[in-house]
Amino acid sequence: MKKIKVIIYGCGVMGRKIAEAIQSKNSLVIVGAVDILPELTGLDLGQLFEKQVDTGVKITNNPDKLLTETEADVAVITTTSYLPDVKDQILSCLKAGLNVVSTCEELSYPWKRHPQLAQEIDAEARQSGQTVVGTGINPGFLMDFLPLTLTSPCLKVNSIKVTRMMNSARRRLPFQKKVGTGLTPEEFQEKISQKIITGHVGLLESINMIATGLHWELDEAVELPPEPVIAERPTPTGFGEIEPGKVIGLKSVAYATQNGRRLITLEFYAYAGVAEEYDEIIIDGQPPLHEKIIGGVHGDIGTVAMTINAIPRAVEALPGLKVMSELPPPVAIP
Ligand SMILES: NC(=O)c1ccc[n+]([C@@H]2O[C@H](COP(=O)([O-])OP(=O)(O)OC[C@H]3O[C@@H](n4cnc5c(N)ncnc54)[C@H](OP(=O)(O)O)[C@@H]3O)[C@@H](O)[C@H]2O)c1
Repeated sequence: MKKIKVIIYGCGVMGRKIAEAIQSKNSLVIVGAVDILPELTGLDLGQLFEKQVDTGVKITNNPDKLLTETEADVAVITTTSYLPDVKDQILSCLKAGLNVVSTCEELSYPWKRHPQLAQEIDAEARQSGQTVVGTGINPGFLMDFLPLTLTSPCLKVNSIKVTRMMNSARRRLPFQKKVGTGLTPEEFQEKISQKIITGHVGLLESINMIATGLHWELDEAVELPPEPVIAERPTPTGFGEIEPGKVIGLKSVAYATQNGRRLITLEFYAYAGVAEEYDEIIIDGQPPLHEKIIGGVHGDIGTVAMTINAIPRAVEALPGLKVMSELPPPVAIP
């Protein structure tokens, strides 16, 4: 089997988990790694793995040199959530002849929030004959691509409601940090309003992917400010036990309407110690559908897998900027 050659662009928590998982895939091989964190420069990528190994791939802080000198098929970019920040990284990978798969949330459906940037990336991708796609567990699958796919057996869809209920204490530390774990409620509001913590990014991208997929013209798509969830008892988290009165995570809601009617509702809960984890999709349609993933999908493992499994889809796809619903559904690759 000819292996797809991958460059890991961003060696934070997701980049290293993705890299470690790629090591066990027969169809993929890592040929380079880049990160700007000074401590990482020159390290063997395998030193960042949970089970340390020697990969022979040294982390560089010079992406231009790496991209010029290395023969590769695809860059996996896990540097940031925001399209304006990742745009130049994407363009330089495209110019070097690489496809791009990224966990950047705003890339999952960039056409509404950043139409000009999306246009620019799409034009470069078509010119260079490569594909760009944003993916991950959410956005990228659970609250957009999966509900859209679930409408396949429906003759008519009136509305869709998706709920993700997740125990944030089981997620990586950067995630627990961005949902406000350990803050006072006042610090939470302050840090959210100053964008020091982001909360969940991507609910509007998910809404727009669903609406576009179903050819729904929306009157409005609204994301409400995230609300902190407050500990009622001492609660274990990745940052230790959180005392009652402090934040253990958040609730985020977004919805979309047409003619005063709610077509899409997304409810995202991520806090430590939730009573029951699940992912639920309710489609009011013909026929109605109610799907519940008991136990929910682990967000970090799911993101690693979605990213890796999307790589062959991106390599095979026609050139351009794609969203997940434009690619054949990825499957677990060997
Ligand atoms: N779609 C989804 O479902 C999904 C799921 C999981 C994660 N994500 C997103 O994926 C991104 C990565 O997550 P993470 O937990 O791995 O974050 P992280 O630990 O902060 O990793 C990001 C890494 O990229 C590095 N970096 C930043 N700018 C760079 C640049 N210009 N060139 C090279 N390296 C650069 C960072 O270095 P510094 O530390 O020096 O900045 C850091 O090492 C986040 O934005 C996260 O929200 C999305």
